[in-house]
This record gives sequence, structure tokens and C-alpha cells, in this order.
Amino acid sequence: MRWFSRSAGSSRATEVVPSPNIWYYQQAYEVENRAQDVDGEIWRVLREECDWTGRDVLDLGCGDGFHLPRFARDARSVLGVEPYAPLARDAAKRVRELPNVSVREGRAQRLPVDDASVDVVHARTAYFFGPGCEPGLREAERVLRPGGSILIVDLDATSEPYGGWLRADIPHYDPAEIEKFFEGEGFSLRRVATRWLFTDHAAMESVLKIEFSAQVAARAVADVHKRTISTAGGAGVTLPVGYRVHTRVKPTGLVLPGHSASSGESSVSSTSTSPRIE
Ligand SMILES: C[S@@+](CC[C@H](N)C(=O)[O-])C[C@H]1O[C@@H](n2cnc3c(N)ncnc32)[C@H](O)[C@@H]1O
Repeated sequence: MRWFSRSAGSSRATEVVPSPNIWYYQQAYEVENRAQDVDGEIWRVLREECDWTGRDVLDLGCGDGFHLPRFARDARSVLGVEPYAPLARDAAKRVRELPNVSVREGRAQRLPVDDASVDVVHARTAYFFGPGCEPGLREAERVLRPGGSILIVDLDATSEPYGGWLRADIPHYDPAEIEKFFEGEGFSLRRVATRWLFTDHAAMESVLKIEFSAQVAARAVADVHKRTISTAGGAGVTLPVGYRVHTRVKPTGLVLPGHSASSGESSVSSTSTSPRIE
């Protein structure tokens, strides 16, 4: 099961969390990224949590840079950070025509980024999987300007049918424990219902096969076939997939014990300077 290697606690022991789906099956992962969130629900929620227009964005664990151009439309600057060298190179290739985007090789636990130099840290299904990711959380806090936000997007294993397949492959995975962890770290939680839309069954199968063990992938493919027959219409293959979006805002001032921090949105854009981007 591909997701297993990034389940709770696995990042404690490893500096770089193995991601076989995108490391070894990059083409199928591109199909997956294109199929994901076709209605833009995750983007809508992210934007409600923290609008990056005119701001400096860091996409952590950016893979081959699929999400960088989308941020680049409105952000002042976008920096992708990725530890796996071949993917960092492909991400740089993807954005070579975009003047406000750059890519650096690096990892969450030790970001190649100056203190207080970005307004948004975004990580999508990368590194921040629960207990064990505290070093990355500290680094994100270091590089954020006061009032900046860290946005963590991951799959919601409580949402069916996809969540059921995830849990079948990782029986010890406890979604409640993961959510409790992020709550304890000061994050809010929003659940987002999305649709993945594939052009056809072959595309859908190629993606489920890189995400699950052979046994669970076979079950998932059969489930999707059944659903498609009953909901059909001929316009591709749809799969409902739930996500979690966790957000934490870096306080703007001194936080005294027993007092909550203010997010101070307005002070961010007026005082911000560009991060060092090569
Ligand atoms: C499932 S992929 C997601 C890639 C990208 N965020 C996307 O949505 O297309 C997870 C990525 O996290 C990266 N990663 C693994 N360990 C990391 C670490 N310690 N710090 C930052 N990124 C890491 C992997 O190399 C991989 O590119």
C-alpha cells in the first residue's frame, strides 16, 4: 500500500518520507493530479482560509510542481521545495516560463528558506501526516512571517469510499488520532468533499493501482465499476474523495499564557518583503 509509508509516525524515523506513487509512477501520478478536485473545492477552501494574492507562497513537498502554476497566477512569488532530486528538476522544468516561480531541493525539517520570508506554507499530501512531523511544523513557523498561514491538505480517511480503501490497506491507521494531533498543534480542520474525474476506466485503474496494494486496488476498481454503472452518463469516471484541510496562523504578536493569538491579516501584506528565491 503506497499510503502506508506516509502513515502516522513514519516521518519520525525518516528524513524523507518515501512516496512511491510519484517517485516511481510519475505519469500515472500526473493523471491523478489532473483528475483530482475537478470542481476546485480544495482551492476554494484554501483561498477562504488564506488568500495568497500578492503574497509569497512556499509549496512544501511540491513533487514535480503540479500546483505551482496555479499559485503563481495570483501570488507575488512561489517557491517549490522538494527533497527528491529528479522531481525537483521536473518541477523546475514545469515552471521555467513563469518568472515568479522557482524551485529548490530541500526538505521540511530543514528548509532552504530565510526566517520570516513567506506568507503561506502549503503542503499537499506531503510529509505532514501526523505525529513525527513536528520538526517540519517548527520550520514552517520559522519561515512564516507573523500573520502568515500554514495550510496542510491530506486525504480524509473517514470519507467513503476512498477512505475505506485507505483503512483496508493500513488497519492500524487511526484518523481520529491524526486529527487530534493537528488540533493539539493549534490547527483548525475543514473537511472538503471533492470529485476526481477520469477520462475513462483505464485512467482510473492506472491511478488506483499506484495508490493501493494489489488486493485493495482490485476491490477499489470493482467498486468504481459498480458505481459507474449505476450513475453513468458517459462523461468520464467520477470518484468522490474527501480531504482534510488543516490551517494554523502564525501569531502577529507576543502570546501570553491563557491568551489567544490574533491573526492580524492586514499587517502582513504591508510589511512583507520577497523571500530569497534563486
Ligand atoms: C504524494 S507526493 C505529493 C506531491 C505534491 N504535493 C502534489 O500534490 O502533487 C509527496 C511528496 O512529498 C515529498 N516529501 C517526502 N519527504 C519529504 C520531506 N521530508 N520534506 C518535504 N517533502 C517531502 C516527496 O518526495 C513527494 O514529492
